[in-house]
Amino acid sequence: MDHSRYDKRKYPIVDVREGYGDWVRTYEQTVQDEMDLRLLERLRTVDWSAPRLILDLACGTGRIGAWLKQVSAASLDGVDLTPEMLDIARAKAIYRTLYTVDITDTKLPAETYDLCIQSLADEHLPELLPLYREVARVTQPGGHFVIVGYHPQFLMAGIPTHFDRKPDEPVTIRSYVHLLSDHVKAALAAGWSLLEMDEGLIDDAWLQKKPKWQIYAGLPISFSMVWQKPQRSVTAP
Ligand SMILES: C[S@@+](CC[C@H](N)C(=O)[O-])C[C@H]1O[C@@H](n2cnc3c(N)ncnc32)[C@H](O)[C@@H]1O
Repeated sequence: MDHSRYDKRKYPIVDVREGYGDWVRTYEQTVQDEMDLRLLERLRTVDWSAPRLILDLACGTGRIGAWLKQVSAASLDGVDLTPEMLDIARAKAIYRTLYTVDITDTKLPAETYDLCIQSLADEHLPELLPLYREVARVTQPGGHFVIVGYHPQFLMAGIPTHFDRKPDEPVTIRSYVHLLSDHVKAALAAGWSLLEMDEGLIDDAWLQKKPKWQIYAGLPISFSMVWQKPQRSVTAP
């Protein structure tokens, strides 16, 4: 669903490349670790020390890559649509390779990664099935897909992904609402099995950073899911 039917802010809407190409200048100062890193830290079904090769989808400036480097010795590849975001990621020198591609059509070789991860980008995709299918294609049998997203309930409360292009000039980056059941339907259709799911609420840690969000206290703002690709079935000789 296009977000516009829920939008209470009514800021001008820009597409992903234009939006993140501008937001890149202030992105890391504005995005809050409570959105995703806090959820990643409390996952129970992922052994971060196990993977040897990880793909960070919609890696942006490399925030997630920097976190992964603290918990895993794996080599990291990253993909993203916005060259300016990738320039910041490249400067961090934590990725083996970075590709400027769409996360729904990466052109990467099949069954390559033990673990794929994607944080805070699914709300920019009109459809989820192409994402779950593409990630299933590039993940090794038995491998995992960790997805963290902006919660549909928070989007439906009227706040799309937005940033200040200039002081007091907010713009929205085109957003779509995907219900949690849409994720489950798309992932199951792409062959994934759900291992774990969690949600992050607007709590005291959030309110300390955003006191004006008292009206949203208790609402879910982000979610995490851990999916596993089935092992290749062994056929009897
Ligand atoms: C909110 S940022 C998240 C970046 C990073 N994962 C993080 O957590 O900081 C969203 C990123 O998704 C990227 N993006 C959005 N749609 C995309 C698509 N279809 N293919 C590749 N990248 C996409 C944008 O360019 C942007 O860098």
